[in-house]
Amino acid sequence: MWFHVERAGGAAAEVSGGGGSASAGRDGEDVAAAGSVGREAPTEAPVDRLAGDPRVESYLGPAFPVVSAFHTMLTEEGVLRGLIGPREVARLWERHLLNSAAVAQHLPGTGQLVDVGSGAGLPGVVLAAMLPDVEVVLVEPMERRVDWLSEVVARLRLDNVVVRRGRAEEFHGAVEAEAVTARAVAPLDRLARWTLPLLVPGGVLVALKGRQAADEVEAARHVLRKLGGGATQVLEAGTVEGLETTTVVRVVKDAARRR
Ligand SMILES: C[S@@+](CC[C@H](N)C(=O)[O-])C[C@H]1O[C@@H](n2cnc3c(N)ncnc32)[C@H](O)[C@@H]1O
Repeated sequence: MWFHVERAGGAAAEVSGGGGSASAGRDGEDVAAAGSVGREAPTEAPVDRLAGDPRVESYLGPAFPVVSAFHTMLTEEGVLRGLIGPREVARLWERHLLNSAAVAQHLPGTGQLVDVGSGAGLPGVVLAAMLPDVEVVLVEPMERRVDWLSEVVARLRLDNVVVRRGRAEEFHGAVEAEAVTARAVAPLDRLARWTLPLLVPGGVLVALKGRQAADEVEAARHVLRKLGGGATQVLEAGTVEGLETTTVVRVVKDAARRR
């Protein structure tokens, strides 16, 4: 096993502020919603500064209409349903949707992808729209979020997506995927325990992380080694020029390792 820290896009950036923080809240608490729902009275709907920006459509290409419809759903219902904090509405594109989209470049274009702890659908729904040849499984334990995810999948007609209710650990032995993603779900050591057993040998875990990514890799070194985590990289993933990059930790499961 080896660890490699790469800063391809320059200095590591915090992927998002309070709302889109890619660092996990306590026991997977929804950071986006927890900080502000119920405390800030929503006034008139704030406008996303990237709404209508042609660079977003150009970056997303054929996935744009679906991701844009997801943006509309989150704008109209996300705060009311406790999925995002009011302050996030104006930065859904940059901090949440493009932050999620950035991960696609580090994933295989076919096979199965499990998005663990999907919450409002990030990054799983965005990735499903961008990677139509990938079978996406959204894994989420909380019933009200599972209901939301099921509605999103039906309304956006994402026929490459299934929603499964439960904790990642409950799927060990039942699911073997080419890739797993996770955003703001748990520190890397815990995430590795939950997700590496879900991967085929040679499969990849791509975890969206913030500035502490390299420290998390260091803290998880022992667990990664024990569970067959092989080549591990901290990568910067950009989308539209001038916007924040997304920091991801990418771990390849050893080819010789089963579970
Ligand atoms: C902070 S939210 C992040 C949601 C979404 N990924 C995002 O970035 O907006 C963490 C999510 O992880 C889920 N979660 C917590 N523990 C989990 C586990 N063991 N397996 C799967 N999901 C888990 C929670 O229910 C919650 O929806």
